[in-house]
Amino acid sequence: MDEREFRRSGQHASVIGLGTWQLGADWGDVDAKDAEAVLEAAAESGVTFFDTADVYGDGRSEETIATFLSTRPDLHVLIATKMGRRVEQIPENYVLDNFRAWNDRSRRNLGVDRVDLVQLHCPPTRVYSSDEVFDALDTLVAEERIAAYGVSVETCAQALTAIARPHVASVQIILNPFRMKPLREVLPAAREAGVGIIARVPLASGLLAGKYMKNTVFAADDHRTFNRHGEAFDQGETFSGVDYASGVEAAAEFAALAPEGYTPAQTALRWIVQQPGVTTVIPGARSPEQARANAAAAKLPPLPEETLAAIDELYERRIKDQVENRW
Ligand SMILES: NC(=O)c1ccc[n+]([C@@H]2O[C@H](COP(=O)([O-])OP(=O)(O)OC[C@H]3O[C@@H](n4cnc5c(N)ncnc54)[C@H](OP(=O)(O)O)[C@@H]3O)[C@@H](O)[C@H]2O)c1
Repeated sequence: MDEREFRRSGQHASVIGLGTWQLGADWGDVDAKDAEAVLEAAAESGVTFFDTADVYGDGRSEETIATFLSTRPDLHVLIATKMGRRVEQIPENYVLDNFRAWNDRSRRNLGVDRVDLVQLHCPPTRVYSSDEVFDALDTLVAEERIAAYGVSVETCAQALTAIARPHVASVQIILNPFRMKPLREVLPAAREAGVGIIARVPLASGLLAGKYMKNTVFAADDHRTFNRHGEAFDQGETFSGVDYASGVEAAAEFAALAPEGYTPAQTALRWIVQQPGVTTVIPGARSPEQARANAAAAKLPPLPEETLAAIDELYERRIKDQVENRW
């Protein structure tokens, strides 16, 4: 699969990576065997970038990746983890001593001396303006605990503040056909600065696959049941912040725009891959079939102009007003 460079760190990632929140928790039951099969399917399909976090299954996602990679020394996969959300979300917790402790735990879970890429995991807004925070991250690099660092953000404004920091290698942000504001507000600045963009929630939590109905029931321990209105964490992380019932209707329209030979999910991934400034896209997968189908989107030809125009029109008509004033 084609790889793209994080220009500030010189690291590379496959254009389609893998999100591994599903391998930890919050998506109903994904057992250890299924989790390993997802990693195997992604790696065999050419995926060389896994996104995880210390909080996914409270470390289970990181450990699952470590176990898998220990059996496959032939693979070269860039591992991006995240830190910061195992404690109360106050800026005072974002200090060097905590960073070291969080990093020690991730290094143990991942079975590595140095983490390839660590991202602050959607910290409070004030954290982005703190020189001490970024000095502390530089210290982690100097101590060879991490090779590079980035941030995972909720809003375009947070992304722009982070991009202005000289050593931020990557910004992870929600970007998909139902979340277009970063195209105008973030991607041009990231390109200019050489900051990599990791596009998350690319399928709007599965909505863009066009397979859910208004009466679809998700498991009780799936965030698509318990976080629809932001009850547990930012509402934007669930269905990309789109109201479920109107999202299902818009997703049906989106599915009808998929060109022949593309599934709706592949249409969404292909749309993201071809946006200038995107480094990698990280769909989550709950089965090996999903992981393989998602990776296959990297080889599909670019979407034709008329499809792009129709996706824009759908966004303007049905989605924009729901999301743009918030994220
Ligand atoms: N704050 C943060 O930093 C943050 C927040 C959210 C996510 N992330 C990262 O971003 C990754 C991706 O986001 P996400 O997992 O939340 O959302 P997503 O990738 O938009 O959606 C994942 C869901 O889409 C469905 N799906 C995946 N591949 C499919 C296919 N080929 N065909 C049909 N359906 C498919 C599955 O739903 P079913 O389960 O219904 O099959 C899957 O659970 C996460 O895994 C995580 O690594 C980071």
